[in-house]
Amino acid sequence: MPEDRTEQPHIVTCTAPVNIAVIKYWGKRNEDLILPINSSLSVTLHQDQLKTTTTVATSRSFQEDRIWLNGKEEDITHPRLQSCLREIRRLARKRRNDGDSGVDSASLSHKVHICSVNNFPTAAGLASSAAGFACLVYSLARVFGVEGELSGIARQGSGSACRSMYGGFVQWIMGNKEDGKDSLAQQVEPETHWPELRILVLVASAERKPVGSTSGMQTSVKTSCLLKHRAESVVPGRMVEMTEAIRKKDFAAFAELTMKDSNQFHATCLDTCPPIFYLNHVSQQIISLVHRYNKHYGETRVAYTFDAGPNAVIFTLQQHVPEFVHMVQYFFPPETNGADFIKGLPVNCASLSEELKQGIGLEPMPKGINYIISTKAGPGPRVVEDPTQHLLLSDGFPK
Ligand code: DP6
Repeated sequence: MPEDRTEQPHIVTCTAPVNIAVIKYWGKRNEDLILPINSSLSVTLHQDQLKTTTTVATSRSFQEDRIWLNGKEEDITHPRLQSCLREIRRLARKRRNDGDSGVDSASLSHKVHICSVNNFPTAAGLASSAAGFACLVYSLARVFGVEGELSGIARQGSGSACRSMYGGFVQWIMGNKEDGKDSLAQQVEPETHWPELRILVLVASAERKPVGSTSGMQTSVKTSCLLKHRAESVVPGRMVEMTEAIRKKDFAAFAELTMKDSNQFHATCLDTCPPIFYLNHVSQQIISLVHRYNKHYGETRVAYTFDAGPNAVIFTLQQHVPEFVHMVQYFFPPETNGADFIKGLPVNCASLSEELKQGIGLEPMPKGINYIISTKAGPGPRVVEDPTQHLLLSDGFPK
């Protein structure tokens, strides 16, 4: 019998970011392959504030593929997990057969154990599936020794996950092939391109979203003619304009398009039958606040965007962050006025003039916002080199 050198599991840990779309993806033309009805564009958020960490181990001693998410074992037979596992293994086999010496042939026949955690509460209602599937695919690829284009596999876990495979400003090109081979993410600009750009996540509600995006967009595709019009006649032009605004670092153009696109996405939700409401009264107050603030200064200094939930994501430039954060604090007085209202990148002090408060003219809404995460654009998935950070022990089970 040859010596068994594979008893010790082969373990890899990676991290991946959350992304926020400024041109929204909503609607599929193929549910199994997750092919969208329009292209979309997003900003990858910095992993110092928001990230998923995933450890993947392979060993000949593992009996079956298993997965633990945020401390709890989950069903590995979930079709989207199965798609990612199958596609990574398929790609690894293909590369090995093509003579790629990087592919770990031994582990190809082994089962995997996967353990994944987020550094932000899932209850905060932030899209965790994008970072989660991006991290899963990136980690699986590393453990099997596969490199190169992986966004087409991440897409099959969750559509928006393909955009989390890159840092900075990322487009997901819808493609038009039946097999989806051309429906991939691509970096438009790296995270270093626009260092003054800041992102504030206003966590409005800890409730879980009423209608998930997968089923919500299915109903929209079936019932909304506004969505069809949007996908065919509005988004193609906006993709070009948005790319231009980002390239030129034209904040006003970027901000106007971002708000319009968020509003059109929510309009398609309202045009869905039965209608879907993701925005609540806090979201609406944030929308008013932003428009009144911009009007007060006679220029577009701040933009909002909302996904399938009530949390606002705000874009602004560094120089406006202190005043805008203090405005939010004034118009949404938190329960405790302590430092923990603002998490992430530090925010300098600012005072609000009476003239500004009067000019805004809104009634404060106490406790409307739980907290703010202050962040910026960040890099794509990374390998964690420090083995003490592995989420699986050397026996392949969670710590
Ligand atoms: C509103 O990527 O979560 O956040 O592909 O069904 O997993 P599935 O949907 P998902 O949808 C995201 C929708 C959105 C807009 C966006 O991120 O582009």
